[in-house]
Amino acid sequence: MADDRTLEAEFDFHGEALDHIFSTYARLHATCPVGRGERYGGFWYLTKNEDIFAAEQDPIRFSVAPSMLLPDFGTDFPLIPIDIDPPDHSRYRRILLPLFTPRAVAELEDGMRDTARQLLAQVRKQRVADVTALYARPMPTIVFSRLAGFPEKDWPKFDAWVDDIIYERTTDPARARAAAREVVDYFDHLLQARRGTADTPDLISRLLAARIDGEPLTHDELISYCYLLFVAGLDTTAWAIRSSLWYLARDPGAQERLRREPDLIPAAAEEFLRTLSPVQAMARTCRADTEIRGRQIKAGDRVLLVFGAGNRDPESFDSPEEIHIDRQANRHLAFGAGIHRCLGSTLGRRELVVALEEFLAAMPGFSHARPQEEWHGIGRLTLQTAGD
Ligand code: HEM
Repeated sequence: MADDRTLEAEFDFHGEALDHIFSTYARLHATCPVGRGERYGGFWYLTKNEDIFAAEQDPIRFSVAPSMLLPDFGTDFPLIPIDIDPPDHSRYRRILLPLFTPRAVAELEDGMRDTARQLLAQVRKQRVADVTALYARPMPTIVFSRLAGFPEKDWPKFDAWVDDIIYERTTDPARARAAAREVVDYFDHLLQARRGTADTPDLISRLLAARIDGEPLTHDELISYCYLLFVAGLDTTAWAIRSSLWYLARDPGAQERLRREPDLIPAAAEEFLRTLSPVQAMARTCRADTEIRGRQIKAGDRVLLVFGAGNRDPESFDSPEEIHIDRQANRHLAFGAGIHRCLGSTLGRRELVVALEEFLAAMPGFSHARPQEEWHGIGRLTLQTAGD
């Protein structure tokens, strides 16, 4: 096992098997709650819930420029609105708020449920099924792409792009950049094709119609906004669904209880978001010399807010490593906090709850087909189901 100094320097939040990263967080909490990692050009990291929350409340000191992503998502331009500081940030964010209110999301629920049921009909045909490919990924892709106005014929291309941009960027940046270029071209063409066409109640229409101080968004701003929504809206929710199923497949008692008491599913979903956070960390740049827990952070240093660790902080949660599907008062950081708090949180939450309700209702019992296999939160998730 690495000594404390190596653990601090080598800390990486990308690519670790889930069980390992969680034990790393527990060690960091005990020995090094504010650390200095050497990867990605060097960065500080905050693992305490309280410190992350405080940084989120101070967006001037903890700026999102040049990018909230570490390493970046394969682009050389800031992503709107995630990489934009005040005062411009709220002008961009405000444009899409009406699409993500609880009421707007409730109107999408029937469509979500139908989609989930259609996908589950395919899962049920198999005794051993890759639920990532058959369920956890397509459900949010279909729901969000409909809302966004991405043409249905294009959906099959999306998974490979998202994988290359989000997951390959740490090991193969050239591949991430190539995928990023394809996504930029895709939105370039799509936005040009949509200009001047009839208004539809989707996200692209809303972006095209938006005005800031009387001016429409430039073509580059529109591409940037679409790009961010694409990477933010698809795999985050897919991660939430597949990681919850990963956990439930290990815990038949929890499955049984949720089938018996489906009213608990929203609380269980919050607990899965807390413990298996789809976005483990996001970066900031510190704009002024700052001391946190005795560590001296210099102006210009990159600082990582490790939401996944904050969500397992023993000072903020009782038995933080345990998953209690009926946990009350679960004030986790899975959607961030502060002015950049996830714009799609109501949608992501609802999709997760509907996905779990439908899966548990359709599958009388499921377990891991390869229980010894370590899982990294990405790629295949092979479950044994009863089948039809
Ligand atoms: C379970 C699913 C999701 C999780 C866990 C999640 C998590 C996050 C996190 C951690 C942030 C950064 C917050 C911060 O730094 O304070 C974020 C921002 C954002 N998310 Fe999500 N997200 C999810 C689903 C979605 C969906 C479905 C959309 C929809 C389109 C979306 C759109 C956004 C946008 C636009 C931002 C940037 C907000 C801003 O900068 O003002 N997310 N999300």
